[in-house]
Amino acid sequence: MQIVPENKVLGAKVLHADLSKPINPLERKQIIEWLGNYGVLAFSNQDLTPRQLRDFSANFGELEINVAKVAQDPELPEVMTLSNMVQDGKPLGLSDAGQDWHTDMSYSKMIAFTNILYGIKIPYRNGKSLGNTEFSNMHAAYEGLPQDIQASLENKTITHDFNKFWEKMRQVKGSTRLPLTPEQRKEKPPVIHPAILVHPITKRKVLYANPGYSVRINELPEDESDELLAFLFAHQLQEKFRYAFDWEEKNVLMWDNMGTIHNAVADYRPDEHRYIKRCQVAANLFF
Ligand code: OGA
Ligand code: MN
Repeated sequence: MQIVPENKVLGAKVLHADLSKPINPLERKQIIEWLGNYGVLAFSNQDLTPRQLRDFSANFGELEINVAKVAQDPELPEVMTLSNMVQDGKPLGLSDAGQDWHTDMSYSKMIAFTNILYGIKIPYRNGKSLGNTEFSNMHAAYEGLPQDIQASLENKTITHDFNKFWEKMRQVKGSTRLPLTPEQRKEKPPVIHPAILVHPITKRKVLYANPGYSVRINELPEDESDELLAFLFAHQLQEKFRYAFDWEEKNVLMWDNMGTIHNAVADYRPDEHRYIKRCQVAANLFF
């Protein structure tokens, strides 16, 4: 394998990899290190079955089985489909996953390490791909914070709630998803994480907050918490921290959910088809 950095704030391409075959311990170690350092890795020209995607993903930690229990492969519940395609009146996958800024699984006690997407069908218009996945660099966002805010976040914790993103999709974005049932909410109660993490791969500090799921800075009164969260959300989304991944079919895209936040750009129409297979990987290797 060979790494070709994008020479941007995030991102690198990995060449000469065949993810349909088992990787050896050295390759695994190398990918983990690259993921920490570049935040977002793309592998082009991959031919993968859902099972091969699952097996590659399992190298990096425990695979999540999503609480919503929709769009899962019937035989492989760890593999989900993200798609706007419909067959016989039935959606082929989750059509609006990730369509606002967030990091995956900050709402879980065991947070996410990486999310691994395999792009099978990518929409194009006038020769340009649509449905980019955008990222923002949380190492850089931490380093770019004013010193007094860095210091004040040191002993702070943040509550993250799965339902925040879910309800925002319904109420603000017009999603047709149903409200979470009381059972689903009980399965994913709000959780608390430090506002600053020492990234387990880079050993540098990252801002661990995101607009999708962060609801409260626990050590502050509510109004001060709201104000600081609003500041952090605006800060972490500045253009200078951002990188947009331009999809191509047969790409495998893998990102670090501790050092980045991301957003799925919904700039394609229902007749412009996107079809992606996904595995979410917990950070249990590190915690
Ligand atoms: C996700 C996600 C981004 C995309 O699957 O968690 O945010 O571009 N997806 O599909
Ligand atoms: Mn996501």
